[in-house]
Amino acid sequence: MADEYAGKVAVVTGGASGIGEAVVRQLANGGARVVIADRDAERGESLPAELQAAGREARFVFTEVADSASVAGLIEATLSAYGGLDWLHANAGIQRYGSVTETDEALWDEVMAVNLKGVYLACHHAIPALLELGGGSIVITGSVQSLGAMMGSAAYVTSKHAVLGLGRTIAIDYARRNIRCNVVCPGAIDTPLLRQAAVELSDDPAEAVRNWSQMQPYGRMGTAAEVAEVVCFLLSDAAAFVSGAAYTVDGALLCPISGYPQND
Ligand code: NAI
Repeated sequence: MADEYAGKVAVVTGGASGIGEAVVRQLANGGARVVIADRDAERGESLPAELQAAGREARFVFTEVADSASVAGLIEATLSAYGGLDWLHANAGIQRYGSVTETDEALWDEVMAVNLKGVYLACHHAIPALLELGGGSIVITGSVQSLGAMMGSAAYVTSKHAVLGLGRTIAIDYARRNIRCNVVCPGAIDTPLLRQAAVELSDDPAEAVRNWSQMQPYGRMGTAAEVAEVVCFLLSDAAAFVSGAAYTVDGALLCPISGYPQND
């Protein structure tokens, strides 16, 4: 449907790459005015230029999501540019590895600062702006690791479980003030984050990516655009009675009790 998001203003943290970038594209191409909040200025600045050339509206605001003043500035910049805020996609995140004994305090703090405090700060500063317009919608990017644990990812798994709890509290605390909040839980999605993980974890990253694909029930990873479809649905009025959900986009990754389907 053309311009189904017309009139809406959205902020997407981590909007310069991967899942966030796909959400920015879908929202802007649907007629929303979109603020890309990211610490990657090079990628973040090139995207609005491309979208504006296609007649769409987006802008980049350099943002460090772990820094309260930076996130407060992001919301101020959004209100000053577009006059209000309807939707927040709190998506920026990093992946780091290690069991709890392998995770030193610096790594723990780094993951919590971005993946948990960053989501808290985005919601903390955005919700008053949503309330100004009589309500709004928030989607937090969790993970299948909000619902289950993978080995050797203590800080990441903890942060992703925690944002599911945060999303659920927002859903009930603000229900009577017309704010919905959902947590999207992607499985393995082919983005720069996942490609970087392959480099860190394997001597043969290309082979690792092929193996991860084969380990999926559908024999492939998801795409950022496939996650963006669900995020945009959850942000939009089409999901008017969906709140507090942990919404998996994982190609059935969490379903098997043991074993995965094999090729016929
Ligand atoms: P990505 O690395 O492609 O994009 C993440 C973006 O967040 C980047 O543009 C990066 O610059 C930005 N960012 C990171 N830390 C930041 C900070 N402190 N301040 C501002 N911006 C920051 O990664 P991807 O895969 O698109 O990940 C997005 C979200 O999806 C993350 O929360 C990740 O944990 C989650 N996720 C990803 C999965 C995957 O398989 N790719 C699976 C499940 C969840």
